Amino acid sequence: MVTSSEGGLLPLGELAPLIAQARAIIGHATRISIFTGAGVSAESGIPTFRDQGGFWTRFPPAQFANWAGLQHLIQKDPLRVAEFVVELLRPILNARPNPAHETIAALEALDKTVTVITQNIDGLHQLAGSTRVIEIHGSVFEVLQTNAGPPIGIRRLQRADLSVTVSELEEFLRTGNSDTARFLHAARSIFGRNSQGFYRPNLVLFGDVLPQDAWQQATAAADTRDCLLVIGTSNLITPASTIPEIARSKGAKIIAIGYDPCPCDVCLRGAAGIILPYVKENK
Ligand code: APR
Repeated sequence: MVTSSEGGLLPLGELAPLIAQARAIIGHATRISIFTGAGVSAESGIPTFRDQGGFWTRFPPAQFANWAGLQHLIQKDPLRVAEFVVELLRPILNARPNPAHETIAALEALDKTVTVITQNIDGLHQLAGSTRVIEIHGSVFEVLQTNAGPPIGIRRLQRADLSVTVSELEEFLRTGNSDTARFLHAARSIFGRNSQGFYRPNLVLFGDVLPQDAWQQATAAADTRDCLLVIGTSNLITPASTIPEIARSKGAKIIAIGYDPCPCDVCLRGAAGIILPYVKENK
């Protein structure tokens, strides 16, 4: 069961006209861009930010979603920062792509130019097989050497590296010992200082400027003129939220899948992992 743009719960059969419209738009498109937010990974077990019980309700952005706040907390309450990092990384490391990620990746087999512009930092689009993914808010699998700046100072982390870090931070939490030096030792793969200076996760937090190359690629991909799918985002954060506006201004048809309304030609309210496979092909 999913809901249509009118908000009522409809069995998929009654949603057929909306899905047929979306399928026709995709069928006629030669260039498809897909703009995703946390909702596309929700069915993979990764919490969103603003839904009930979401990440920012447990870790207030004023303290956790900016580097100054995090640096202050590392000194004042490293146990809380350890909890934040574990709660961020563990669901991502345990997650597998869901049918939404898999369907997006499968669009590439339709002999169209498919570009994913994602606000997500979980790497699930790439894991599902998407080959052109623009991560405008960074990735938990990258560390930025702050004095070198992107992309020179970006190092890739393996899943295994982050799994070790989560285990060491969980052990740190079990000690209950709020010692900054012990936190930094446990978190040394993602936070610290080396011969080149300080390094930290390559994430775009509040107040950060988006990486110029990623943003240029994203706005170019938004100029798709054919079709933009907007999936699983509250569309509240700028400049990311201008992506649908750019696409619309260039004449693209907008297909929105999720629960928060945005200006669209076809609005499919419901879970991306359920709806998207129907949009791609006859089920
Ligand atoms: N399928 C589709 N949409 C879903 C699903 C689902 N299964 N579950 C939740 N959603 C929707 C929610 O209704 C909401 O509209 O996904 C959206 C998630 O919104 P947010 O939690 O605000 O996440 P997002 O839009 O990605 O936030 C953008 O804000 O805090 C910053 O950097 C952070 O990248 C993030 C940005």
